[in-house]
Amino acid sequence: MTPIASSFHIGSLLIDPPLLSAPMAGFTNLAYREILRRFGGVGLIATEMISARSFIYKEAHGEDAPSRLWGIADEPRPLSVQIWDNQPETLAYFAETLTRDYQPSVIDLNFGCPAPAIAKNSASGSYLLKTPEKVGAIVERVVRAAGKIPVTAKIRLGWTRGTINAIDAAQAIESAGGAALTVHGRTAQEMYSGKADWDAIAAIKPHLKRIPLIGNGDIKSAEQAAEIFRKFPVDGVMIGRAGLEKPWIFRQISQLLRGEELPTEPPLAKQRDLLLRHFDLLASQTGVEKAVILMRKYAACYSKGKRGARQFRTAVCTARNETEFRKIVQELFPIET
Ligand SMILES: Cc1cc2nc3c(=O)[nH]c(=O)nc-3n(C[C@H](O)[C@H](O)[C@H](O)COP(=O)(O)O)c2cc1C
Repeated sequence: MTPIASSFHIGSLLIDPPLLSAPMAGFTNLAYREILRRFGGVGLIATEMISARSFIYKEAHGEDAPSRLWGIADEPRPLSVQIWDNQPETLAYFAETLTRDYQPSVIDLNFGCPAPAIAKNSASGSYLLKTPEKVGAIVERVVRAAGKIPVTAKIRLGWTRGTINAIDAAQAIESAGGAALTVHGRTAQEMYSGKADWDAIAAIKPHLKRIPLIGNGDIKSAEQAAEIFRKFPVDGVMIGRAGLEKPWIFRQISQLLRGEELPTEPPLAKQRDLLLRHFDLLASQTGVEKAVILMRKYAACYSKGKRGARQFRTAVCTARNETEFRKIVQELFPIET
């Protein structure tokens, strides 16, 4: 069978397969990234977004670096570190530090977060899409600071439906030296409602001269990812939430893209074991007590859509320690659909 999509480059970095895992605050920490690597199939793995200002503050006050930096110095590459702020100099300082002390494969700038704490209260993330010239100025400064490390940007379609300006932002990013553009096909105002608008993502492609376009939004299955590549002129796709429910989805898509048959889903008992393995990894990084709490949200993702998921979720939230957590998972993880 003929391959459906092939690799592409971000600067000189080969992205193969052309599948990227999305940055997700509170989720894409070191343990989750390790789970993704075990399954494989991800061309580029992303961290959570990290606040440049908070890094600088902690450094100035002699505090430990933000926990979102855990793992980054030593874990396998390729790895994209996402950073956010609205001040070019603040971002440039953090990018310089990352380049010197952590050497990620990619530094990604967040121009897409719509959360009020970031967009409204901090005039950052998707708020910056209101002023593409400011986006350009930030990219230009961070590209200079990052030296040989490629700098990419992640945007939404615009601030509101009435003010969609992703093409302006895309051109500003490319002209400023950005090395790739990821577009989530919603506006900031839409948050996560409605459907991602892939036609609007595709409309950006003719306006980019040099850099790859990565589309993002609502991909839930391997077939759907393959269909996106067939239908839309994107170089890569980024997947977020579906990767939390099925971390093996990237491997499935990569097989499908190579023209192989669609692999079956792992048996539910294996999915339950994975959840326990995920707990072990998280516990080794955060300590057991914290991991029991943090696993609530991952357990909800792993069980989503399965029969008995609600009962399982509710029970996981009552676990007070590791023993209780393991018992609940063993007894209540929905292994019948
Ligand atoms: C819980 C959560 C946290 C997120 N955190 C970030 C983030 O830190 N940086 C970012 O650029 N996007 C963030 N996003 C947006 C995702 O990267 C992605 O654009 C969005 O979920 C759409 O892709 P999907 O439909 O494949 O999930 C987050 C999304 C979710 C659901």
